[in-house]
Amino acid sequence: MQNSPLKPITYAYLETTNYCNLKCSFCNREEVIGKLQHMSIEKYEVMLQKLSEHPITEAKLMGMGEPFLHPKFDEICKLFKSYFPKAFLIVATNCQYRFTERIERALEHIDLLYFSIDGYKESYEKDRAPAKWEKLMKFLDDFKNSDRKNCRVTVNYVVNPNNIYDIQKVNDEILIPYNLEELRLNIAQDWSEDKTMVGGYKKEDLEYLKKNWKANIKGKSKWDYNSCFWPENGVYITVDGRVLMCALNTSASGFGNIFIEDIDVIRQNKEFSKVRNGCKENKPEDHCKNCSYKELTPILDYLSVNN
Ligand SMILES: C[S@@+](CC[C@H](N)C(=O)[O-])C[C@H]1O[C@@H](n2cnc3c(N)ncnc32)[C@H](O)[C@@H]1O
Repeated sequence: MQNSPLKPITYAYLETTNYCNLKCSFCNREEVIGKLQHMSIEKYEVMLQKLSEHPITEAKLMGMGEPFLHPKFDEICKLFKSYFPKAFLIVATNCQYRFTERIERALEHIDLLYFSIDGYKESYEKDRAPAKWEKLMKFLDDFKNSDRKNCRVTVNYVVNPNNIYDIQKVNDEILIPYNLEELRLNIAQDWSEDKTMVGGYKKEDLEYLKKNWKANIKGKSKWDYNSCFWPENGVYITVDGRVLMCALNTSASGFGNIFIEDIDVIRQNKEFSKVRNGCKENKPEDHCKNCSYKELTPILDYLSVNN
């Protein structure tokens, strides 16, 4: 098949550290990360420079690590905005560390910060081990007195069959008292290529979600490969510079390395084009065969979620 012309990247997902202080039950981090590292500021600038020709309008500074464990994460955020002043910058954090001035400084450059809180007390500590509820509360209490600048803050809650009935408690005891903007619910996805997701929901669980939380659930029930934005407009870059197609298959080895080649050379290579054409024609390559966007469509359809 003839390759169609490349479109510019408008969405970038950039991992600047793969260090993490948690082992979340739903995260495939241990299976996919290589050597532990923080991206140096020099390398980070090389990456930003190479992306700078692209009209990036939205970016996530996260990945398989805890972003704020990068010792210079405030500088990382500031630099991103100096290259892409108009882009909307999103960061997710697990809040399992002390809230310090360095964190507050980063807020100046972040447009939307997700506090990743899945479950309440027992289920939280179980799924986010070795996270402690008490530590989360200390972080939130310190955060409450800080200057948020213009940074919006939401709760990002990964829903699984064991924490469904804790959503209300997180809403009442965290979202409202700490004056956070929204409770975003994500049905747990599987981010590896070779597994299929185990839903494990009972019918009454889904009914409960539909009746009470439908408006908070994120996702698209009307989704097919040919509507995937990643191959056309997105990019995911790991801490060691590997260019992946998307955040849905983080076990892929990568299509090239941004520290070695130019981004559009990578996006035009044979392997990348094969996956891109597969999506376009709705004939997914192996890379996409267990895509969570696709796998979640029956659940999201049942829940009538399409946003
Ligand atoms: C991979 S984490 C990395 C950032 C940080 N360590 C944290 O916990 O927020 C980024 C976001 O992805 C969410 N997440 C992790 N595994 C997921 C999964 N299997 N399905 C859906 N979301 C997931 C996390 O809850 C978090 O909000």
